[in-house]
Amino acid sequence: MDVYEAIYSRRDVRHFRTDPVPDDVLQRILNAAHHAGSVGFMQPWNFLVIRSAATKQRIFDLYKEANRQAAEDYQGEQRALYDSLKLSGILEANINLAVTCDSQRETGGGLGRKSMPETAVYSTCCAIENLWLAARAEGIGVGWVSIVDPDTAKQILGIPKSLTLVAYLCIGVPISFDKKPMLERAGWQARVPLEELVYYEAWGHRSTSPEKV
Ligand SMILES: Cc1cc2nc3c(=O)[nH]c(=O)nc-3n(C[C@H](O)[C@H](O)[C@H](O)COP(=O)(O)O)c2cc1C
Repeated sequence: MDVYEAIYSRRDVRHFRTDPVPDDVLQRILNAAHHAGSVGFMQPWNFLVIRSAATKQRIFDLYKEANRQAAEDYQGEQRALYDSLKLSGILEANINLAVTCDSQRETGGGLGRKSMPETAVYSTCCAIENLWLAARAEGIGVGWVSIVDPDTAKQILGIPKSLTLVAYLCIGVPISFDKKPMLERAGWQARVPLEELVYYEAWGHRSTSPEKV
């Protein structure tokens, strides 16, 4: 699979088969994450692999509570649609993976972070995208769950307070890789046309001609 094929066919996966993710596959996708770019070559990430059903259940309970609270932000038809969405595969996924960022890590000597300290977290997101794409190339599904209280999740997982929980991922053999995002198929959100998001030469300019700026 070439990189564009992986990019276009990558999906957030919430429905998994019970089959295990082979250890060598897990190591390859973690290694792909570890080869992401990072500010100053800081490599601020850690990966916490979770297989325990009891731990998954505790995180799932957090998800249920956070999801109940999030649902209250919507009314009417949108609320009904929200309630119909499956927004995590925590219990079904063979592996749960917490990805953390240590913004104080000395690796990289602070290079690139003085003006933008948040680049440590950005670097961790780059690692996660690498993992997501490598998993797709391996035929493995990944779902990102942000609907959990991060401090309580950190407590449950024994993650030091000083670290940022950047992502809680569900990883497993997917039921399918759908052609379109689930949120698009459900009518929650369509893909925004690229032209609406690209400007040329100055903010707001859609003309590609530099003379017109
Ligand atoms: C930072 C981040 C957090 C996300 N959190 C959730 C989540 O809590 N639950 C969920 O179902 N999907 C979550 N997603 C997945 C998005 O809903 C998904 O990427 C988007 O709908 C586009 O679909 P696709 O990934 O299949 O292309 C998250 C994605 C990102 C990048």
